[in-house]
Amino acid sequence: MNRTEMMERIALLKKERNAVILAHNYQPGEVQDAADILGDSLELSRKAAATEASVIVFCGVHFMAETAAILAPRKYVLLPEPGAGCPMSDMITADQLRTWKARYPGRPVVCYVNTSAEVKAESDVCCTSSNAVRVVESLKEAEVLFVPDKNLAAFIARTSRKKIIPWDGYCFVHHLIYADDVHRARREHPEAEIWAHPECRPQVIDLSDKALSTGQMVAEARATTRREVVLATEAGMTYRLAKENPGKSFIPIKAAALCVNMKKTTLAKVLSALENLETRITVPDEIADRARTAIEKMIRI
Ligand code: 13P
Ligand code: SF4
Repeated sequence: MNRTEMMERIALLKKERNAVILAHNYQPGEVQDAADILGDSLELSRKAAATEASVIVFCGVHFMAETAAILAPRKYVLLPEPGAGCPMSDMITADQLRTWKARYPGRPVVCYVNTSAEVKAESDVCCTSSNAVRVVESLKEAEVLFVPDKNLAAFIARTSRKKIIPWDGYCFVHHLIYADDVHRARREHPEAEIWAHPECRPQVIDLSDKALSTGQMVAEARATTRREVVLATEAGMTYRLAKENPGKSFIPIKAAALCVNMKKTTLAKVLSALENLETRITVPDEIADRARTAIEKMIRI
C-alpha cells in the first residue's frame, strides 16, 4: 500500500471504530499528518480524558499511552508500537521510589509525567514540563522530592522558593546537548533565537533565550517575529513548527538529538493498530486509581 492508500484506509477505519489518533510533537512527520490531535504531554493527556471516541490510538511512547488509559479507563487505548518506551521513565521503579521517599518523611513526591503508572501511584502529584513550576509552587511543604529528571528538577529549583530534592534521572536525548552546541549555534546563526526544552542541562538553558515545553514552542513559534529559531530539543520538533509557520526557519541544534523510541511509530503501524486493535495498553485498577489521583491533581492546578 502506498501512503495515500494507507491514509484512506486509516480514515475509513477511524470512522468504523469511532477512533481518534493522538500524536506527540516528536512523532515522525507521516504520523503527525495522520493525527487528529497533536500536542505535548499535557495537552494529550487532557484530550485523552475528554474525548468522545471509543478508541484512542496513541502515537507516542508507553508512559503517554498509559496516562491516557488511566484517565480514560473505559476506552480502548492502543500503542501502535508496543516497544516504544521512554528510557528516562525507566530510570526509577516504584520499589526504588518507596525506598527513597522513606528516607524523607513529610516531603511530597512530584513525579514528571515521564514515569510508569506504578511510580505515579506512589507520588502525590504529577507534572509536565509546561506546568512543573506551578505544580511545585502549589504545594504547602518547603521541601519536595522530584522524580525522575534531575535537569527538570534544576529548572524548577531556579524559579521556585522550594528546596527540590532530585532523583538522578535524565533524558539521554536532551542530555547530549552541551553548552558548546549552544555556542556553535550562536556563531552559525547570529540572528536566531535559541529555545531549549526544560529537560536540557542547566548550562544549556542558561545560554538559551527561552526554556519551553514542546507545546509552548508551538505557541511561541506562531507568536515570534524572529525568522530563525534554533531548537535545543529532539530534532523532529522542527517538522510541525516548519509546517505551521511557513517563512520561518527552525533549525535543530544537533541532528543527533533524536528519540529513537518516538520514531518507532510509522504510518503502517498506525494502520495495523486500527485494523487489529492492538496493542492495547491497560493499567490494573488498584494502580490506576492511585495514579489518577496524582494526574488529576495536576490537571486541577
Ligand atoms: P513535552 O511535554 O514538552 O511534550 O515533553 C515530553 C517529552 O518526552 C520530552 O522529551
Ligand atoms: Fe523519553 Fe527523552 Fe524520548 Fe522524551 S525525548 S520520550 S524524555 S527519551
